[in-house]
Amino acid sequence: MAKRIVIDPVTRIEGHAKISIFLDDAGQVSDAEFHVVEFRGFEKFCEGRPFSEMPAITARICGICPVSHLLASAKAGDAIMAVAIPPAADKLRRLMNLGQIVQSHALSFFHLSAPDFILGWDAPPATRNVFGLIAADPALARSGIRLRQFGQEIIEALGGKKIHPAWAVPGGVRSGLDEEGRARIRQRLPEAFATAEAALGIFLKALESHREEALIFGNFQSLFMGLVAPDGGWEHHGGRLRFTDSTGSVIADQIEPARYLEFLGESVQEASYLKTPYFKALGLPGGMYRVGPLARLNVCEHIGTPRADAELKAFKQMGRGAVTSSFLYHYARLIEIIAGLEAIERALEDPDLGSGDLRADAGVNSLHGVGASEAPRGTLFHDYTVDRSGLLKSVNLIVATGHNNLAMNRTVAQIARHYVQGDNIPEPVLNRIEHGIRCYDPCLSCSTHAAGQMPLRIRLVGPRGNVLREVVRG
Ligand code: MG
Ligand code: NI
Repeated sequence: MAKRIVIDPVTRIEGHAKISIFLDDAGQVSDAEFHVVEFRGFEKFCEGRPFSEMPAITARICGICPVSHLLASAKAGDAIMAVAIPPAADKLRRLMNLGQIVQSHALSFFHLSAPDFILGWDAPPATRNVFGLIAADPALARSGIRLRQFGQEIIEALGGKKIHPAWAVPGGVRSGLDEEGRARIRQRLPEAFATAEAALGIFLKALESHREEALIFGNFQSLFMGLVAPDGGWEHHGGRLRFTDSTGSVIADQIEPARYLEFLGESVQEASYLKTPYFKALGLPGGMYRVGPLARLNVCEHIGTPRADAELKAFKQMGRGAVTSSFLYHYARLIEIIAGLEAIERALEDPDLGSGDLRADAGVNSLHGVGASEAPRGTLFHDYTVDRSGLLKSVNLIVATGHNNLAMNRTVAQIARHYVQGDNIPEPVLNRIEHGIRCYDPCLSCSTHAAGQMPLRIRLVGPRGNVLREVVRG
């Protein structure tokens, strides 16, 4: 008799989700799904609001990535006003996005994933977390926490204490960064670099003893999507879309983000509430693609800063063509921290940051605007249609967790197939399944459009929906 194992929700990722593992009659894993309960209401709720309010409104979608929404929304507003924003405003937005990438990647590595590498898969779940890490290696944990704070301080230096909800606005930004602010950031850079290099060392060492995980934690062919610069370089806020396949070949390039609907189809999977985009020309399942750090490093040809470029070379050698293991999202994330720090260091020397020309002003010059930005987790689209007076007629948001949804399902199925036998899932196996999801660092708050974390509930559900076993964690 077919059985269903439900893990609900996943720990150490924000929001609320559950995993279902489907067993066939022989007790073998036949499939798996990562469910996110999306409250579609948010896009509808925005209708009728002025587009100029959207940066502030959408920054509140999520307590984890307000910066990403703020920036993508401001960009969509630029398109509706049909303006080129002042160069200083673009550089300041970029600097804030770099701060966001550093702080979010540091959180993902040190708080959420490093406990598995340092304390082990089999460590008791009560201590296999950042507090356990503090107990086991206080210096490492502290430096990880400080690296995250460094990214947050950049965001605060620009946007104000609790991130001014409307620092980035259609047409530009509200304020620049003075020399004192720059000096404070500059002074913290050496420590941030040292921590990032230490994290890289830890991961590369962990990789030696995690060869099996690297082979089965989401290791499959897929497409990859990310923004790239005009010369094919790494991009995080600007540029155009590139798609590559698992051989590393470019299959679509320099696509204006506003044209995303020509390339992406959106399907609603029966069992999941999250919309699942795919590369239209290849249909499903061939059009499955991944976004985020792994994808960005796969689609780009170079990063443009020395330390990150040296590491990118080593990264690219881990795949024939593209790097196809989602376990290497961790590696890509750490390389992006270094890339981010180098880019921040460079940006601080740009005299434009102190410029007073920060904002272009205009009314509605286009009834449709799309803003795309690379959020830490992957490409974020804000797509607005407005009337002549700038009131929103429709809103479409595509978040990274949506792009990666099919790949996350595939990852869970691959791990479950390898480790799950019968209907008893021991704790270390549960943890490996969860880690498969954590590789993508999904922001469930964004996907569900509701903040908050639920306690962990693991349920083993029989064929008639009857709960065979339930485990409650922390
Ligand atoms: Mg949407
Ligand atoms: Ni989010």
